[in-house]
Amino acid sequence: MTTKTFKHMLTLEELTPTDLDELIRLAIDVKRHPDAYGTALAGKKVALLFEKASTRTRISFEVGVVELGGYPLFLSGSDLQIGRGEPITDTIRVMSRYVDALMIRTYAHETVETLATAGSIPIINGLTDTHHPCQVLADLLTIEETFGTRQGKVLTYIGDGNNMAHSLMLGGALSGMHIRVASPDGYTVDETIYNQAVALAETTGGSVTLYGDPAEATVGAHVVYTDVFASMGQEAEAETRLAHFASFQVDETLMASARDEAIFLHCLPAHRGEEVTADVMDGPQSLVFDQAENRLHAQKALMITLLA
Ligand code: CP
Ligand code: NVA
Repeated sequence: MTTKTFKHMLTLEELTPTDLDELIRLAIDVKRHPDAYGTALAGKKVALLFEKASTRTRISFEVGVVELGGYPLFLSGSDLQIGRGEPITDTIRVMSRYVDALMIRTYAHETVETLATAGSIPIINGLTDTHHPCQVLADLLTIEETFGTRQGKVLTYIGDGNNMAHSLMLGGALSGMHIRVASPDGYTVDETIYNQAVALAETTGGSVTLYGDPAEATVGAHVVYTDVFASMGQEAEAETRLAHFASFQVDETLMASARDEAIFLHCLPAHRGEEVTADVMDGPQSLVFDQAENRLHAQKALMITLLA
């Protein structure tokens, strides 16, 4: 029996710690007993709208809806009338008459907030420039499976203060984890989101701390996490960023300062030789493919919770 307090999944901040615990518990059960949920979304239509590229998000949502007995509709932003100027507020009012939920990957975070207000169906954020909550549900599931708990675990994120850093701060804070973020000068996290995460962590016994030195941030970590130096939409900055992030690569030396049992996570896609060395990415501490698989299970739990 769920005690869910949220209608949309935009940032993770809309969840209580209990909501998050229930989602993770359900994801574990869905993963163990997929057949028990084969009709959970029977008769439900879920639109999947992409304004940016995707491999994992697209495939895991599409397969997830099918495995739950629902019907997924893949929609590309450039094929819809929004590509020709139809207001997104009109689009969501129309969609609300046809489908039961919308998952969207887009640029400005305000877009998903507008959709949640203007439409009458649950909105799931499949990545914006500032948040990637569905990825972090899968990450937290992976951490829970590995260590048996999230509470008190130290996660060090090395790199750009981007959507991944923001969602990890919020999801980690809700979990009572200790989140450390190490970024080069000028690339640190958004101050408002940092303050939100710090406030959340104060209620759960967790913490959120910013660092400038990756080695210092990694000492004693249970989880070492990184992401691309240039996100989607920042292609023009890629070369400059490569230079500015040169000393923020996750390599075996850095992994050695984490705990012996530490795991390496990456949301993918990864660039071996840039943010992570091939040794670490393909080494024994890397759980990146289990983590990618967990997108499917975590999102099935999310859709059951929002829709069933
Ligand atoms: N991690 C992630 O969201 O991957 P995609 O961009 O392939 O969906
Ligand atoms: N920060 C990356 C994450 C990709 C899953 C991006 O936004 O491109």
